[in-house]
Amino acid sequence: MSLGKPNFDGIVGESEKIKEVFSLIEKILDNNSTILILGESGTGKELVAKAIHYNSSRSDKPLIPVNCGAIPEDLLESELFGHEKGSFTGAIKTRIGRFELANGGTIFLDEIGDMSPTLQVKLLRVLQEQEFERVGGMKPLKVDVRVIAATHRDLEKAVESNRFREDLYYRLNVIPISIPPLRERKSDIPLLINHFLSKCNRIKNRNVEGFSDKTMECLREYRWPGNVRELENIVERVVILKGTGIVQPADLPEKVRKGNGAAVTLHTDDEKLIIPDDTAVDVAPPVDIPDSGIDLNKLMEDFENRLIMEALKKSEWNKARAAELLGIKRTTLIEKLKKKGIGRLSEI
Ligand SMILES: Nc1ncnc2c1ncn2[C@@H]1O[C@H](COP(=O)(O)OP(=O)(O)OP(=O)(O)O)[C@@H](O)[C@H]1O
Ligand SMILES: [Mg+2]
Repeated sequence: MSLGKPNFDGIVGESEKIKEVFSLIEKILDNNSTILILGESGTGKELVAKAIHYNSSRSDKPLIPVNCGAIPEDLLESELFGHEKGSFTGAIKTRIGRFELANGGTIFLDEIGDMSPTLQVKLLRVLQEQEFERVGGMKPLKVDVRVIAATHRDLEKAVESNRFREDLYYRLNVIPISIPPLRERKSDIPLLINHFLSKCNRIKNRNVEGFSDKTMECLREYRWPGNVRELENIVERVVILKGTGIVQPADLPEKVRKGNGAAVTLHTDDEKLIIPDDTAVDVAPPVDIPDSGIDLNKLMEDFENRLIMEALKKSEWNKARAAELLGIKRTTLIEKLKKKGIGRLSEI
């Protein structure tokens, strides 16, 4: 159940922005305050949570993760607080929850922005009183747990739109740590590439020597909407496929080669969305038509998708507001979303 032990050196980076994160982590290691880690998907929030726990005085006690976005709402309460035998159909014996498992250690509440309002109230009580009851239980239980929460969502906006409780937000936001997106710390890219290259050569038994200057240039140009996770995946893929020698631009995926990090690709590895919501938009990107030509219709559609995704992200999926931002009717936006198959899993 406990997350594996990393070392603090596992967080690679030398940019000013990541150094600020390191120095903040060092200052808050042992003061037990609640920590809120913010950052786009793939920026390293989980890595930072592990670094904090395993370098704190709680390191010999467990670090218990809970993905609040992945566990169905009706199960999450019992996951967090446990339940008494017979408290609901299927509760055939008493089960202790993750707060109890984390006693003396740290609980990592990942994707806290996805927690339901009912559970937000219960969590607020634990944070205020360090006390809770198991589902179906009467006896208040006390625990000594450090809380680290993380989300890729904009919690301030969620508070404004009444989707996240303001009082809980302030309780969690005692020490915020914002991890900057990779495109804002591009000087870390070469270090990260070398780190992932040697790791991958070792684990996959390959012998890729490095990346050509031109390839590094493409990697620096790209916008990295999926941040460090995307970089890690691309290095792994290239190392496996290439096996030996020096990586050239032609070995990179096309979107990276073209320096276009904002292309919308359909994928399902996000637990909530069909299309990633961290897609960025350059309203007037530099244009360059290759000798092989382009597919204008596809590019226009990609561009439209990117603008729609950006509007949805900005409006926290409020379609009326997103339509307003795009200058189109709400019904037109809904039609487009249907046609393109864009939506949250819960809506389709
Ligand atoms: N600075 C870094 N140095 C080395 N590896 C990193 C760094 N940042 C992230 N990674 C790696 O990138 C991947 C994604 O990191 P992590 O899971 O911590 O991101 P996250 O912010 O929690 O993402 P998500 O919001 O999607 O859950 C992991 O494999 C992690 O080891
Ligand atoms: Mg994570």
